[in-house]
Amino acid sequence: MQKRNITFELTTFDSLEELSSEDANLMAEAVAARKNAYAPYSNFQVGAAVLLENGEIVIGNNQENASYPSGLCAERVAVFYAGAKYPGVGIKSIAITATSTTYQLTEPAAPCGNCRQSISEYEVRQKSPIALLMMGETGKILKCDSMADILPLGFDSSFL
Ligand code: THU
Repeated sequence: MQKRNITFELTTFDSLEELSSEDANLMAEAVAARKNAYAPYSNFQVGAAVLLENGEIVIGNNQENASYPSGLCAERVAVFYAGAKYPGVGIKSIAITATSTTYQLTEPAAPCGNCRQSISEYEVRQKSPIALLMMGETGKILKCDSMADILPLGFDSSFL
């Protein structure tokens, strides 16, 4: 028997001012997108901004539905839109921010499992890492260098 440790590096920033201008700009786009979320059921608004290798930024926000499972998370709205509008163009990074109208979210919001899987598909396909920036409404910002970091032992097309 063998035990293995899987570790990854996470960078913490105390404020937006500590980010590179590229990352700060991307997070600003995610914040703007968050404000247009349609989240009347959860009151939890999420914004995502995807930076593509061609320099374009594609945004998304969560879109809920009276039939709850029919809604979609911000991250998937954004990456699917990027895939639809700029097919074959690589994704460099994704900024994610969340807030709630019922409490103050001061911790970074990490993507849900379905979004991790969906973003991972793009990362595996493009064979280069997608960096993730995560933020609540206020407070610290987390950055990880690859989706694989937060979805270790992932399932991908190589198994099919
Ligand atoms: N949500 C996202 O947009 N992204 C996530 O990664 C987690 C959850 C949305 C889905 C739903 O509209 C609301 O947040 C509450 O789950």
